[in-house]
Amino acid sequence: GTTGTGPADRHRTTAGAVLAELRERARAVLDPAHYDYFAGGVGDEVVLGGNEAAFRRLALLPRVLRGAPTRDLSVDLPGGRLAAPVLVAPTAFHRLAHPEGESATARAVAAARTVLVSGVASTVAIADVVAAARSVDPDAAVWFQLYPQPDDEVTACLVRRAERAGCTALVVTADSPVLGRHRRDAEHGFHDLPAGLAAENMRDLPGAAPGALRDIAMSPAVSWAHLDRLRASTSLPLWLKGVLHPRDAVLAVEHGVSGVVVSNHGGRQCDVVPAAVEALPAVVDAVAGRVPVVLDGGVRCGGDVAVALALGAAAVGVGRPVLWGLAAAGEAGVARVLDVLRDEVDHLLALCGGRDLADLTRDQVVARSAGV
Ligand code: FNR
Repeated sequence: GTTGTGPADRHRTTAGAVLAELRERARAVLDPAHYDYFAGGVGDEVVLGGNEAAFRRLALLPRVLRGAPTRDLSVDLPGGRLAAPVLVAPTAFHRLAHPEGESATARAVAAARTVLVSGVASTVAIADVVAAARSVDPDAAVWFQLYPQPDDEVTACLVRRAERAGCTALVVTADSPVLGRHRRDAEHGFHDLPAGLAAENMRDLPGAAPGALRDIAMSPAVSWAHLDRLRASTSLPLWLKGVLHPRDAVLAVEHGVSGVVVSNHGGRQCDVVPAAVEALPAVVDAVAGRVPVVLDGGVRCGGDVAVALALGAAAVGVGRPVLWGLAAAGEAGVARVLDVLRDEVDHLLALCGGRDLADLTRDQVVARSAGV
């Protein structure tokens, strides 16, 4: 079947087809409320569909006769080296998808030699997520994503936990001063994790009773001053996620971040924003090479990866496809997602006469005419 991982299998299918099949398998096995929590977006889901649609409007002009017999897909980022330019974006509550949750994800990502950005909203504690990754690769890079909490002491405690766990970078998500409104969750009445699952990083935080869980709070008052304090409190590289405006990208660099993630949260926060890939070029220009830029949102095949890289992204993140792989087949499903994407990028780079990822350049990206 198309879920095999042998080399021959690669020539019979595409990443797009594999990811779509995994999504359908996930839909078949998941509680509909949980499927819709993962799949859904904010508002009327304009941006949710727009992220993928925007990639379909872009095309890549290959270069010919460049003589590239071998290819190197690796990329070095502050906080870790990736064997391929696809990292795993932070998504919440992996144990809703599979009993092993983030531990299974972490093992698959470590085996693929790329980076897992583990969310503060994980259903496995960050120390156990890192341990799972390191059980596969002692050098595995796991980054910790967090929302600045209203209480600085709580934020600081989360940062200490990530450091003690052995995380190699922090990712601060800036696009969520308040939560997006998700129609599908409201329709299902999905507001709480089922019994037995919890946001494990939120146990025993300052000010709470022993063993108690805190809710992950959004911070409407969050500002650059919070980011400055957070940065001063750690020596880990700090990424800022959820940047769309080029001026915010410049401010982020001025405030000392090590990298910027162009993201609209997979269409889950603000439903009037552009597609992530549409916002990318202006941010890349504003940052002007001072720090790397990662893009996430709507990446579903090797071509999407190649286009984002040609537009100046150093790497891309994938969110939902990893959840579909995890729900469909646990660790093996996540491995499959990363493998088909890596393989398709490698094949495309060969077709474009590229030796490494820097050979994908912006002059190669053109608009696709409607209907083609
Ligand atoms: C997310 N995302 C997210 N981002 C973040 O910074 N913290 C979080 O806790 C979450 N949680 C989350 C849950 C679910 C179910 C999804 C689908 C997404 C956003 C995520 O990091 C990323 O920006 C998008 O998922 C990328 O878009 P695609 O690849 O899902 O299209």
